[in-house]
Amino acid sequence: MMTDLDSNAPIGVFDSGWGGLSVLGHIQQHLPSESYIYVADTGHLPYGPKSPGYVIGRAERIAAFLLERGAKALVVACNTATAAAIAVLRESLTIPVIGIEPGVKPALAQSHSGTVGVLATEGTLGSEKFRRLISQHGQLGRVIVQPCHGWVELVEQGALDTPQAYRLVAEPVGSLLSQGADTLVLGCTHYPFLSSLIRQVAGPDVLIIDTGQAIAQELHRRLSQARLVRESQGSGQVEYWVSGDPEAVKGAIQPLLGTPLLARQLPPQWR
Ligand code: DGL
Repeated sequence: MMTDLDSNAPIGVFDSGWGGLSVLGHIQQHLPSESYIYVADTGHLPYGPKSPGYVIGRAERIAAFLLERGAKALVVACNTATAAAIAVLRESLTIPVIGIEPGVKPALAQSHSGTVGVLATEGTLGSEKFRRLISQHGQLGRVIVQPCHGWVELVEQGALDTPQAYRLVAEPVGSLLSQGADTLVLGCTHYPFLSSLIRQVAGPDVLIIDTGQAIAQELHRRLSQARLVRESQGSGQVEYWVSGDPEAVKGAIQPLLGTPLLARQLPPQWR
């Protein structure tokens, strides 16, 4: 069925909000000629505290929207949505579906202390998928976890240069370091936007692991396998859609990116 797909078709990417742009950046560097449709489910954010059933419902609806717009592949640029919904999406879709999970394995491989700390949402940390990930690689070292309340909202509001932001980041990071972690895993796609704050708290020697680059490589591999890499040269387009208020980007993610971003609101049936 995949052979019917057009290699010039866009790649669909979604997240609960703008965190997935940290993944899209890596993907664009890897596959600059591709076109992308990015959906930020801002009307339903944050996913972290929501039930798996709720997140699955949103993931299915957004995937249906992206398919209707002709997506040739789907990137779930959200750890929480991947944990809850990737199996359901893979079962129902015939296009390549790529998800993201915390980089526990590379972290354990690079840790000197043998203790790695995972920063993620409660949805990701409480999922069966995460439990399996730990039991698969846990013998390589000790994995400690820390849910990060309010971090997603911090990024969405774009208010990172404040004492409150520093405090919100310092507490969970400090807790992992005091338990012996020398390597921190960014287990949520919003968190790369907080890397410099995390670095300020953790100091220069702590290793920070982000899996955005690995997802870009995996997407490239899957597209090549399915003969779906776009042939034409030149840079592709990105369309942005939101389920919440499209005007909200101006006060929020736009200042973080430093470039204007025009988003359209999803039609009502997809919101
Ligand atoms: N970017 C999502 C993730 O990777 C954030 C989840 C949320 O909305 O709480 O988990």
